[in-house]
Parts: sequence; structure tokens; C-alpha cells
Amino acid sequence: MTHAIRFHRTGSPEVLQWEAVDLPPPTAGEVRLRHHAVGLNFIDTYHRSGLYPLPLPSGIGLEAAGVVEAVGEGVDAFAPGDRVAYTSGPLGAYAEARNIEARHLVRLPENISFEQGAAMMLQGITAHYLLHATYPVKAGETILVHAAAGGVGSILVQWAKLLGATVIGTVGNEEKAVRARALGCDHVIVYSREDFVGRVREITAGEGVAVVYDSVGRDTFLHSIASLRRRGTMVSYGNATGPVAPFDCALLQKSGSIFVTRPGLFDYIATRDELCERSAALFEVVGSGRLRVEINQRYALSDAAQAHRDLEARKTTGSTILLP
Ligand SMILES: NC(=O)c1ccc[n+]([C@@H]2O[C@H](COP(=O)([O-])OP(=O)(O)OC[C@H]3O[C@@H](n4cnc5c(N)ncnc54)[C@H](OP(=O)(O)O)[C@@H]3O)[C@@H](O)[C@H]2O)c1
Repeated sequence: MTHAIRFHRTGSPEVLQWEAVDLPPPTAGEVRLRHHAVGLNFIDTYHRSGLYPLPLPSGIGLEAAGVVEAVGEGVDAFAPGDRVAYTSGPLGAYAEARNIEARHLVRLPENISFEQGAAMMLQGITAHYLLHATYPVKAGETILVHAAAGGVGSILVQWAKLLGATVIGTVGNEEKAVRARALGCDHVIVYSREDFVGRVREITAGEGVAVVYDSVGRDTFLHSIASLRRRGTMVSYGNATGPVAPFDCALLQKSGSIFVTRPGLFDYIATRDELCERSAALFEVVGSGRLRVEINQRYALSDAAQAHRDLEARKTTGSTILLP
């Protein structure tokens, strides 16, 4: 037996329950993993609330780091004692221990802690693909990053600076503005009280930005489009305020022949090679000290409901981990 957070109906954080669950030996292709730290991500709230529907009852969580305890038949890439992390596979990372197919795992380098691994796999690989594949940011370009002091935002800002971009970040309050500046934002807009479209035009001398990385969704989508330069790219990669409403395609031409994309992480780590390549790039930039993963909140895994409340109330900054 082990313990895990599970939910039997969708709803507010109270639906998350700490339960005793069976842990059978790993089957062919699987490993049994003892979690040392589990990552908290906004997508977990979409699963819990029902925005992204799932068969119920269900486990929850997509990211963790820990140690291999046992391997099933045919697994030769990993052995008991290996330090590993993952950010894909069936939901169920909110658990003390679990079985998972070995193909989802990457080995954690010695200079990356379990806490860092759990805090950064999902958010860091997301930042990597957004900046290198969805819209490859070039030195000298000006870009706009929403929720710049959040989990993905904090990593996006720092990595975009390493690529030589000028970064405009939006944040919900003054305290987050201080953090966003410390992360490297060249300009910070408190979008809860300032008109970010007007400020972006002012900062870019009327031109607009090359790309907007928008995880806020419904409330910012059209304003983000209005912040782009001619033939700029709108990357709508999240829905913290709810899903984006249907819009008139002609708007894209009227706004300067812009491009819109709605990417998801799992299409950018669809092959083992891609997963390994993006993880290696992340481990390198963090391991070398060029990018900091800020773990600003830690909760007991059994207290996951409180972590969800704080994340949805915009009370968190940087990354958050749950500790078994
Ligand atoms: N497509 C992908 O591949 C992918 C992968 C990872 C994450 N994501 C998305 O990226 C976003 C960030 O994820 P994260 O885990 O790093 O979370 P996060 O940014 O740490 O937290 C969400 C942030 O969104 C902002 N926000 C604005 N309005 C909000 C509202 N009404 N309710 C809650 N938050 C609001 C808040 O920052 P301010 O107070 O500063 O506004 C809040 O801190 C999420 O939308 C997530 O779904 C997408």
C-alpha cells in the first residue's frame, strides 16, 4: 500500500482526497518510483475542476522526481537506485510512490536536486519549446510574457534574456513586479491596473512585440493580439482565466497578418528524442547556474488542496512543490 491524492468528482480543491492505494509490482516496461518531490502545475487545477475532462475516479499530477525502487520485465535503461524525473504519462504524480512506464523517465544529473527536478520539468521544458520551437526568439527582439512572476513565466523571462531578447513582463501586483524585475524583465507592467496594450505600444515606439506568450487566456487574448507587431505571433498556451472565446479569423488580417498558435507540451515531447533533448537543455542551463528555478512554495503532499487554493488565488510565485 501507499498513499496518493485522488478525486472522485470534479470541483473545488476540497474534492482532492488523501487515500491509501494499492501498489502492485511494476509490470513489463514499468518501474516503481519512490517520489521525493512532486511538481504543482496549473494544469492540475484544470483536471480537478473538470475544464479538461477525465474518467473518474482519477489520480492527479504530471510531474515528480524520485528514486527507482524496482523495474518490470524488459526495462534495461533504469535500475533500482537511479535518480529520475518525469513530466508525462498517466496522471498520478501526487503519490508517495507509483508505477510508471520507463519511457517517460529521464535521469536526473547529480547537480540537479529532486526538488529542482520536480519543480522544473514541466514548466522548464514548456519554456524551452515555447522559446525555441513554437516561436524561436531572436536576439534583439522585444517580446511580451504574461504572468511573468509565475512558474512558467519566471523561467521564460530568464531564458528569453539568455537568448538576447528585450522582455516585457506583466504581473498582478507590485510585489510580483519586484520579482519580475529581479528575473531580468526590462519592463514590467502591472496589468491589473495598467492598460498593457498602451504600455507595450509606448515601450516599442508604436511597433508592437514580435511574440506574446499568453497563459492567461480569456481575459487577455484579444489585448495580446493588439500588442503584436505586423506579422507577429500570438502564442496562447494557457487558460488561467478560462478558455479563450471563439473569434473571427478576419481579426488576424486586420491586426497585421498575425499568426496564432495554441501549443501543448505533449506535442513537443512526443518522441523520446525530443523529451531527452529538451530535458538535457534544461538541465544544462540550470546546472550551469545561468537560470534559477525559484521554489517559492512547499506543501505537504497531503495538503495539495491548499496548494491548489493558493495557486488559483494568484498567491504563488515561481514554482511550487508538494512533499510526500
Ligand atoms: N500549453 C502548455 O504546454 C503549458 C505548459 C505549462 C503551463 N501552461 C499554462 O501556463 C500557465 C502558467 O502555469 P503555471 O503552472 O506556471 O502557473 P503560474 O503562472 O505560476 O500561476 C498562474 C498565474 O496566472 C496569473 N493569473 C492571471 N489571472 C488569473 C486568474 N484569474 N486566476 C489564476 N491565475 C491568474 C497569476 O499571475 P499574476 O497575478 O501575475 O497575473 C498566476 O500566478 C497556465 O495557464 C498553464 O495552464 C501551459
